[in-house]
Amino acid sequence: MAAGLHTLDDFDLRGKKVLFRADINSPLDPVSGGILDTSRIKGYVKTLERLKDSKVVLIAHQSRPGKGDFTTLRRHSEVLNSLVKGRVSYVDDVFGSCAKKEIDRLSAGEVLVLENVRFCSEETSKMICKKPPIEQAKTHLVRRLSSYVDFYVNDAFAVSHRAQPSVVGFPMVLPSCIGPSMEREITALTKVLHSKETPRVFALGGAKADDSFLITKNVLSKGVADKVLLSGVAALIFLMASGKDVGSANREVVKDLGYKELVSEAGELLNRFKGQILLPVDLAFEEAGGGRGESGIDGFPDQKALDIGAETMKAFSTAIKGARVVIAKGPAGVFEINGFGQGTESILKSMGDSKALSVIGGGHLTTVAKRAGLRDKISHIGSGGGATVSFLSDQPLPGIEAMKMAGGDVA
Ligand code: 3PG
Repeated sequence: MAAGLHTLDDFDLRGKKVLFRADINSPLDPVSGGILDTSRIKGYVKTLERLKDSKVVLIAHQSRPGKGDFTTLRRHSEVLNSLVKGRVSYVDDVFGSCAKKEIDRLSAGEVLVLENVRFCSEETSKMICKKPPIEQAKTHLVRRLSSYVDFYVNDAFAVSHRAQPSVVGFPMVLPSCIGPSMEREITALTKVLHSKETPRVFALGGAKADDSFLITKNVLSKGVADKVLLSGVAALIFLMASGKDVGSANREVVKDLGYKELVSEAGELLNRFKGQILLPVDLAFEEAGGGRGESGIDGFPDQKALDIGAETMKAFSTAIKGARVVIAKGPAGVFEINGFGQGTESILKSMGDSKALSVIGGGHLTTVAKRAGLRDKISHIGSGGGATVSFLSDQPLPGIEAMKMAGGDVA
Protein backbone atom coordinates (compact mmCIF):
# COMPACT_ATOMS: atom_id res chain seq x y z
CA MET A 1 0.00 0.00 0.00
CA ALA A 2 1.46 3.46 -0.95
CA ALA A 3 -0.30 6.72 0.04
CA GLY A 4 -3.64 4.93 0.42
CA LEU A 5 -3.23 3.15 -2.91
CA HIS A 6 -2.88 -0.57 -3.51
CA THR A 7 0.27 -1.66 -5.36
CA LEU A 8 1.38 -4.86 -7.11
CA ASP A 9 2.86 -6.05 -3.79
CA ASP A 10 -0.67 -6.45 -2.39
CA PHE A 11 -1.83 -9.05 -4.95
CA ASP A 12 -0.99 -12.42 -6.41
CA LEU A 13 -1.66 -11.96 -10.11
CA ARG A 14 -0.13 -15.23 -11.32
CA GLY A 15 -2.21 -16.64 -14.18
CA LYS A 16 -4.60 -13.66 -14.10
CA LYS A 17 -5.67 -11.58 -17.09
CA VAL A 18 -4.43 -8.11 -16.20
CA LEU A 19 -5.64 -5.01 -18.02
CA PHE A 20 -2.58 -2.75 -17.87
CA ARG A 21 -3.13 1.00 -18.54
CA ALA A 22 0.16 2.38 -19.81
CA ASP A 23 1.07 5.78 -21.24
CA ILE A 24 3.20 5.19 -24.34
CA ASN A 25 2.05 8.36 -26.09
CA SER A 26 5.21 9.26 -28.04
CA PRO A 27 6.51 11.93 -30.41
CA LEU A 28 6.23 10.69 -34.02
CA ASP A 29 8.09 11.73 -37.16
CA PRO A 30 5.51 13.78 -39.08
CA VAL A 31 6.61 12.25 -42.41
CA SER A 32 7.41 8.60 -41.72
CA GLY A 33 5.23 8.17 -38.62
CA GLY A 34 8.20 6.48 -36.92
CA ILE A 35 8.54 6.83 -33.14
CA LEU A 36 11.12 9.54 -32.42
CA ASP A 37 11.58 8.86 -28.73
CA THR A 38 10.90 5.40 -27.35
CA SER A 39 11.70 6.17 -23.71
CA ARG A 40 8.11 5.92 -22.48
CA ILE A 41 7.87 2.44 -24.03
CA LYS A 42 11.26 1.40 -22.62
CA GLY A 43 10.09 2.57 -19.19
CA TYR A 44 7.60 -0.32 -19.04
CA VAL A 45 10.02 -3.18 -19.67
CA LYS A 46 10.83 -3.74 -15.98
CA THR A 47 7.18 -3.59 -14.97
CA LEU A 48 6.20 -6.12 -17.60
CA GLU A 49 8.96 -8.34 -16.27
CA ARG A 50 7.23 -8.19 -12.86
CA LEU A 51 4.01 -9.30 -14.55
CA LYS A 52 5.67 -12.21 -16.38
CA ASP A 53 3.35 -14.75 -14.76
CA SER A 54 0.22 -12.86 -15.83
CA LYS A 55 -1.59 -12.48 -19.14
CA VAL A 56 -1.15 -8.78 -19.83
CA VAL A 57 -3.60 -6.78 -21.95
CA LEU A 58 -2.02 -3.37 -22.54
CA ILE A 59 -4.31 -0.42 -23.16
CA ALA A 60 -2.95 3.02 -24.11
CA HIS A 61 -3.46 6.08 -26.30
CA GLN A 62 -1.48 7.94 -28.93
CA SER A 63 -2.25 11.66 -29.30
CA ARG A 64 -5.81 13.00 -29.66
CA PRO A 65 -8.49 12.84 -32.39
CA GLY A 66 -7.86 15.49 -35.06
CA LYS A 67 -4.10 15.72 -34.57
CA GLY A 68 -1.55 14.60 -37.16
CA ASP A 69 0.04 12.04 -34.83
CA PHE A 70 -3.27 10.46 -33.82
CA THR A 71 -2.61 6.96 -35.03
CA THR A 72 -2.49 3.22 -34.38
CA LEU A 73 -0.37 1.55 -31.69
CA ARG A 74 1.02 -1.04 -34.13
CA ARG A 75 4.48 0.56 -34.18
CA HIS A 76 4.51 0.98 -30.40
CA SER A 77 3.80 -2.74 -30.04
CA GLU A 78 6.66 -3.58 -32.41
CA VAL A 79 9.08 -1.50 -30.32
CA LEU A 80 7.85 -3.18 -27.13
CA ASN A 81 8.15 -6.60 -28.78
CA SER A 82 11.79 -5.93 -29.64
CA LEU A 83 12.44 -4.94 -26.02
CA VAL A 84 10.75 -7.87 -24.29
CA LYS A 85 11.86 -10.37 -26.93
CA GLY A 86 8.94 -11.78 -28.79
CA ARG A 87 6.32 -11.83 -26.06
CA VAL A 88 4.23 -8.98 -27.46
CA SER A 89 1.39 -9.16 -29.98
CA TYR A 90 -1.02 -6.50 -31.22
CA VAL A 91 -4.64 -6.42 -32.27
CA ASP A 92 -6.29 -3.55 -34.17
CA ASP A 93 -9.33 -3.62 -31.91
CA VAL A 94 -10.10 -2.35 -28.41
CA PHE A 95 -13.15 -4.19 -27.07
CA GLY A 96 -14.75 -5.97 -30.03
CA SER A 97 -14.80 -9.69 -30.80
CA CYS A 98 -11.27 -9.66 -32.29
CA ALA A 99 -9.86 -8.19 -29.07
CA LYS A 100 -11.79 -10.76 -27.01
CA LYS A 101 -10.50 -13.65 -29.13
CA GLU A 102 -6.89 -12.51 -28.74
CA ILE A 103 -7.31 -11.94 -24.98
CA ASP A 104 -8.77 -15.45 -24.58
CA ARG A 105 -5.76 -16.90 -26.42
CA LEU A 106 -3.16 -15.25 -24.16
CA SER A 107 -0.80 -17.40 -22.12
CA ALA A 108 1.00 -16.28 -18.96
CA GLY A 109 4.04 -14.20 -19.90
CA GLU A 110 2.47 -12.79 -23.04
CA VAL A 111 1.48 -9.17 -23.64
CA LEU A 112 -1.30 -8.12 -26.01
CA VAL A 113 -1.32 -4.46 -27.09
CA LEU A 114 -4.83 -3.25 -27.93
CA GLU A 115 -5.52 -0.51 -30.48
CA ASN A 116 -5.30 3.19 -29.52
CA VAL A 117 -8.05 3.52 -26.92
CA ARG A 118 -8.85 7.05 -28.16
CA PHE A 119 -10.10 5.46 -31.41
CA CYS A 120 -13.20 4.74 -29.25
CA SER A 121 -15.20 7.95 -29.17
CA GLU A 122 -16.31 7.32 -25.57
CA GLU A 123 -12.75 7.79 -24.33
CA THR A 124 -12.54 11.47 -25.29
CA SER A 125 -16.24 12.43 -25.37
CA LYS A 126 -16.57 15.70 -23.41
CA MET A 127 -20.01 14.63 -22.23
CA ILE A 128 -18.70 11.33 -20.82
CA CYS A 129 -15.49 12.75 -19.37
CA LYS A 130 -17.52 15.24 -17.29
CA LYS A 131 -19.31 12.35 -15.55
CA PRO A 132 -18.12 10.76 -12.29
CA PRO A 133 -16.04 7.56 -12.55
CA ILE A 134 -18.97 5.34 -11.63
CA GLU A 135 -20.91 6.67 -14.65
CA GLN A 136 -17.86 6.34 -16.91
CA ALA A 137 -17.76 2.69 -15.88
CA LYS A 138 -21.07 2.29 -17.75
CA THR A 139 -19.46 3.03 -21.14
CA HIS A 140 -19.34 0.18 -23.66
CA LEU A 141 -15.56 0.38 -23.50
CA VAL A 142 -15.38 -0.31 -19.76
CA ARG A 143 -18.31 -2.75 -19.54
CA ARG A 144 -17.11 -4.93 -22.41
CA LEU A 145 -13.37 -4.90 -21.78
CA SER A 146 -13.68 -5.37 -18.02
CA SER A 147 -15.68 -8.54 -18.65
CA TYR A 148 -12.70 -10.09 -20.52
CA VAL A 149 -10.11 -9.59 -17.72
CA ASP A 150 -9.62 -10.21 -13.97
CA PHE A 151 -7.69 -7.18 -12.77
CA TYR A 152 -6.77 -3.58 -13.64
CA VAL A 153 -3.33 -2.01 -13.14
CA ASN A 154 -2.95 1.71 -13.72
CA ASP A 155 0.68 2.53 -14.46
CA ALA A 156 -0.03 5.59 -16.59
CA PHE A 157 0.80 8.50 -14.30
CA ALA A 158 1.24 10.79 -17.33
CA VAL A 159 -2.46 10.59 -18.19
CA SER A 160 -3.85 10.65 -14.65
CA HIS A 161 -4.93 14.30 -15.01
CA ARG A 162 -7.50 13.14 -17.61
CA ALA A 163 -10.91 11.99 -16.40
CA GLN A 164 -11.40 9.44 -19.17
CA PRO A 165 -13.03 5.97 -19.03
CA SER A 166 -9.80 3.98 -19.47
CA VAL A 167 -8.28 5.93 -16.56
CA VAL A 168 -11.16 6.32 -14.08
CA GLY A 169 -13.82 3.78 -15.19
CA PHE A 170 -12.05 0.42 -14.82
CA PRO A 171 -11.13 0.82 -11.13
CA MET A 172 -14.85 1.17 -10.40
CA VAL A 173 -15.60 -2.36 -11.64
CA LEU A 174 -12.38 -4.36 -11.34
CA PRO A 175 -10.05 -5.10 -8.42
CA SER A 176 -7.22 -2.68 -9.12
CA CYS A 177 -3.87 -1.27 -8.11
CA ILE A 178 -1.31 1.23 -9.30
CA GLY A 179 1.82 0.05 -11.11
CA PRO A 180 5.46 0.64 -10.09
CA SER A 181 6.08 3.68 -12.34
CA MET A 182 3.03 5.41 -10.94
CA GLU A 183 4.16 4.56 -7.40
CA ARG A 184 7.68 5.96 -8.00
CA GLU A 185 6.29 9.13 -9.52
CA ILE A 186 3.82 9.77 -6.68
CA THR A 187 6.52 9.20 -4.04
CA ALA A 188 9.02 11.57 -5.71
CA LEU A 189 6.50 14.32 -6.44
CA THR A 190 4.94 14.19 -2.97
CA LYS A 191 8.36 15.11 -1.53
CA VAL A 192 8.53 18.18 -3.81
CA LEU A 193 4.95 19.17 -3.06
CA HIS A 194 5.54 19.03 0.68
CA SER A 195 8.86 20.88 0.64
CA LYS A 196 8.43 24.28 2.31
CA GLU A 197 11.02 26.02 0.10
CA THR A 198 10.08 29.32 -1.58
CA PRO A 199 9.99 31.19 -3.93
CA ARG A 200 8.39 28.71 -6.29
CA VAL A 201 8.34 29.35 -10.01
CA PHE A 202 6.31 27.49 -12.63
CA ALA A 203 7.54 27.75 -16.27
CA LEU A 204 4.76 26.67 -18.62
CA GLY A 205 5.09 26.33 -22.39
CA GLY A 206 4.00 24.07 -25.22
CA ALA A 207 0.86 23.95 -27.33
CA LYS A 208 -1.64 22.73 -24.69
CA ALA A 209 -2.69 26.23 -23.62
CA ASP A 210 -5.83 24.96 -21.86
CA ASP A 211 -3.64 22.94 -19.46
CA SER A 212 -1.32 25.93 -18.88
CA PHE A 213 -4.35 28.11 -18.08
CA LEU A 214 -5.76 25.72 -15.51
CA ILE A 215 -2.36 25.35 -13.86
CA THR A 216 -1.67 29.12 -13.81
CA LYS A 217 -5.04 29.84 -12.24
CA ASN A 218 -4.70 27.06 -9.72
CA VAL A 219 -1.12 27.66 -8.55
CA LEU A 220 -1.55 31.42 -8.21
CA SER A 221 -4.90 31.34 -6.46
CA LYS A 222 -3.72 28.68 -4.00
CA GLY A 223 -0.40 30.44 -3.42
CA VAL A 224 1.46 27.32 -4.60
CA ALA A 225 3.53 29.48 -7.00
CA ASP A 226 5.03 32.91 -6.53
CA LYS A 227 5.53 33.42 -10.25
CA VAL A 228 4.44 31.80 -13.51
CA LEU A 229 6.61 32.24 -16.61
CA LEU A 230 4.58 31.68 -19.75
CA SER A 231 5.80 30.73 -23.22
CA GLY A 232 4.28 28.72 -26.08
CA VAL A 233 0.65 29.17 -27.13
CA ALA A 234 -0.54 30.29 -23.68
CA ALA A 235 1.89 33.22 -23.84
CA LEU A 236 0.37 34.34 -27.17
CA ILE A 237 -3.09 34.34 -25.59
CA PHE A 238 -1.94 36.38 -22.59
CA LEU A 239 -0.07 38.80 -24.84
CA MET A 240 -3.26 39.29 -26.89
CA ALA A 241 -5.18 39.89 -23.65
CA SER A 242 -2.66 42.52 -22.57
CA GLY A 243 -3.31 44.43 -25.80
CA LYS A 244 -0.13 43.44 -27.68
CA ASP A 245 -0.27 42.98 -31.42
CA VAL A 246 1.16 39.49 -31.95
CA GLY A 247 0.37 39.61 -35.69
CA SER A 248 -2.32 37.84 -37.69
CA ALA A 249 -0.31 34.59 -38.12
CA ASN A 250 -0.23 34.11 -34.34
CA ARG A 251 -3.85 35.18 -33.88
CA GLU A 252 -4.71 32.46 -36.45
CA VAL A 253 -2.72 29.87 -34.45
CA VAL A 254 -4.73 30.72 -31.32
CA LYS A 255 -8.00 30.58 -33.25
CA ASP A 256 -7.18 27.33 -35.09
CA LEU A 257 -6.33 25.60 -31.82
CA GLY A 258 -9.75 26.64 -30.46
CA TYR A 259 -8.34 28.93 -27.74
CA LYS A 260 -9.85 32.31 -28.80
CA GLU A 261 -12.31 32.31 -25.90
CA LEU A 262 -9.39 32.10 -23.44
CA VAL A 263 -8.27 35.66 -24.29
CA SER A 264 -10.77 37.37 -21.98
CA GLU A 265 -10.01 34.94 -19.18
CA ALA A 266 -6.31 35.72 -19.62
CA GLY A 267 -7.13 39.40 -19.13
CA GLU A 268 -8.88 38.62 -15.85
CA LEU A 269 -5.94 36.55 -14.64
CA LEU A 270 -3.46 39.31 -15.49
CA ASN A 271 -5.53 41.78 -13.44
CA ARG A 272 -5.98 39.43 -10.54
CA PHE A 273 -2.35 38.33 -10.29
CA LYS A 274 -0.51 41.54 -11.15
CA GLY A 275 3.25 41.07 -11.45
CA GLN A 276 3.08 37.31 -10.94
CA ILE A 277 2.61 36.27 -14.58
CA LEU A 278 5.74 36.92 -16.67
CA LEU A 279 5.18 37.12 -20.43
CA PRO A 280 7.71 37.18 -23.28
CA VAL A 281 8.99 40.61 -24.27
CA ASP A 282 10.36 39.31 -27.56
CA LEU A 283 9.81 36.27 -29.76
CA ALA A 284 11.65 34.46 -32.55
CA PHE A 285 10.35 33.71 -36.04
CA GLU A 286 11.68 32.24 -39.28
CA GLU A 287 13.18 34.85 -41.64
CA ALA A 288 11.98 34.89 -45.26
CA GLY A 289 15.27 33.38 -46.46
CA GLY A 290 15.31 30.83 -43.60
CA GLY A 291 17.10 31.16 -40.26
CA ARG A 292 16.13 32.70 -36.94
CA GLY A 293 14.93 36.26 -36.61
CA GLU A 294 13.82 37.98 -33.40
CA SER A 295 11.55 40.89 -32.69
CA GLY A 296 10.05 42.71 -29.71
CA ILE A 297 6.35 42.10 -29.16
CA ASP A 298 5.29 45.55 -30.32
CA GLY A 299 5.33 45.51 -34.08
CA PHE A 300 5.90 41.76 -34.31
CA PRO A 301 6.10 40.73 -38.01
CA ASP A 302 3.27 38.71 -39.51
CA GLN A 303 5.06 35.43 -38.84
CA LYS A 304 4.40 32.49 -36.56
CA ALA A 305 6.27 32.81 -33.26
CA LEU A 306 8.58 29.79 -32.98
CA ASP A 307 10.47 30.55 -29.77
CA ILE A 308 11.04 33.14 -27.07
CA GLY A 309 13.66 35.81 -27.82
CA ALA A 310 16.97 36.66 -26.11
CA GLU A 311 15.53 39.37 -23.79
CA THR A 312 12.82 36.99 -22.58
CA MET A 313 15.42 34.27 -21.96
CA LYS A 314 17.35 36.72 -19.74
CA ALA A 315 14.24 37.71 -17.76
CA PHE A 316 13.13 34.09 -17.31
CA SER A 317 16.63 33.07 -16.30
CA THR A 318 16.74 35.76 -13.58
CA ALA A 319 13.38 34.59 -12.20
CA ILE A 320 14.49 30.94 -12.25
CA LYS A 321 17.84 31.59 -10.60
CA GLY A 322 16.13 33.50 -7.78
CA ALA A 323 13.77 30.59 -7.03
CA ARG A 324 14.13 27.66 -4.59
CA VAL A 325 11.73 25.39 -6.46
CA VAL A 326 11.23 25.46 -10.25
CA ILE A 327 8.68 23.32 -12.05
CA ALA A 328 8.55 23.32 -15.85
CA LYS A 329 6.18 21.86 -18.43
CA GLY A 330 6.17 22.21 -22.20
CA PRO A 331 8.84 23.66 -24.51
CA ALA A 332 9.25 27.42 -24.96
CA GLY A 333 9.39 27.02 -28.73
CA VAL A 334 9.22 24.65 -31.67
CA PHE A 335 12.50 22.96 -30.72
CA GLU A 336 12.07 20.36 -33.47
CA ILE A 337 12.96 23.08 -36.03
CA ASN A 338 16.67 23.80 -36.16
CA GLY A 339 17.51 27.05 -34.36
CA PHE A 340 14.30 27.26 -32.33
CA GLY A 341 15.27 25.16 -29.32
CA GLN A 342 17.26 27.99 -27.73
CA GLY A 343 14.50 29.25 -25.44
CA THR A 344 13.75 25.79 -24.07
CA GLU A 345 17.45 25.04 -23.58
CA SER A 346 17.96 28.36 -21.84
CA ILE A 347 15.13 27.62 -19.36
CA LEU A 348 16.52 24.13 -18.68
CA LYS A 349 20.06 25.46 -18.34
CA SER A 350 18.94 28.12 -15.85
CA MET A 351 17.17 25.39 -13.88
CA GLY A 352 20.27 23.21 -13.95
CA ASP A 353 22.57 26.09 -12.93
CA SER A 354 20.32 27.27 -10.11
CA LYS A 355 20.35 25.89 -6.58
CA ALA A 356 16.62 25.28 -6.85
CA LEU A 357 14.90 21.94 -6.59
CA SER A 358 13.98 21.45 -10.24
CA VAL A 359 11.29 19.28 -11.79
CA ILE A 360 10.42 18.92 -15.47
CA GLY A 361 7.58 16.92 -16.92
CA GLY A 362 6.70 15.51 -20.30
CA GLY A 363 8.39 14.03 -23.33
CA HIS A 364 9.29 17.29 -25.05
CA LEU A 365 11.25 18.85 -22.20
CA THR A 366 12.90 15.52 -21.48
CA THR A 367 13.99 15.24 -25.13
CA VAL A 368 15.54 18.73 -25.06
CA ALA A 369 17.18 18.12 -21.67
CA LYS A 370 18.74 14.92 -23.06
CA ARG A 371 19.83 16.60 -26.28
CA ALA A 372 21.47 19.49 -24.40
CA GLY A 373 23.19 17.18 -21.89
CA LEU A 374 21.19 18.70 -19.01
CA ARG A 375 19.32 15.63 -17.81
CA ASP A 376 21.54 15.03 -14.80
CA LYS A 377 21.27 18.64 -13.68
CA ILE A 378 17.50 18.43 -13.15
CA SER A 379 16.40 17.10 -9.73
CA HIS A 380 13.41 15.08 -10.99
CA ILE A 381 12.16 14.23 -14.47
CA GLY A 382 8.47 13.42 -14.38
CA SER A 383 6.95 11.10 -16.97
CA GLY A 384 3.99 13.38 -17.65
CA GLY A 385 3.90 17.06 -18.51
CA GLY A 386 0.36 18.02 -17.53
CA ALA A 387 0.04 15.31 -14.88
CA THR A 388 3.34 16.15 -13.14
CA VAL A 389 2.62 19.85 -13.00
CA SER A 390 -1.02 19.36 -11.98
CA PHE A 391 0.13 17.10 -9.13
CA LEU A 392 2.63 19.77 -8.02
CA SER A 393 -0.16 22.35 -8.19
CA ASP A 394 -1.78 20.42 -5.33
CA GLN A 395 -4.66 19.54 -7.59
CA PRO A 396 -6.36 16.14 -7.15
CA LEU A 397 -5.74 14.02 -10.25
CA PRO A 398 -8.82 12.09 -11.43
CA GLY A 399 -6.76 8.97 -12.21
CA ILE A 400 -5.28 8.82 -8.70
CA GLU A 401 -8.57 9.68 -6.99
CA ALA A 402 -10.28 6.85 -8.88
CA MET A 403 -7.58 4.42 -7.76
CA LYS A 404 -8.25 5.42 -4.14
CA MET A 405 -11.88 4.38 -4.63
CA ALA A 406 -10.93 1.07 -6.27
CA GLY A 407 -11.83 -2.33 -4.90
CA GLY A 408 -8.95 -4.53 -3.79
CA ASP A 409 -9.99 -8.19 -3.85
CA VAL A 410 -8.90 -10.46 -6.64
CA ALA A 411 -10.70 -13.75 -7.17
C1 3PG B 1 0.86 13.30 -22.25
O1 3PG B 1 1.64 12.99 -23.14
O2 3PG B 1 0.95 14.37 -21.61
C2 3PG B 1 -0.19 12.34 -21.86
O3 3PG B 1 -0.10 11.17 -22.61
C3 3PG B 1 -1.57 12.93 -21.96
O4 3PG B 1 -1.88 13.24 -23.29
P1 3PG B 1 -3.06 14.27 -23.62
O5 3PG B 1 -2.60 15.63 -23.19
O6 3PG B 1 -3.30 14.15 -25.10
O7 3PG B 1 -4.28 13.85 -22.82
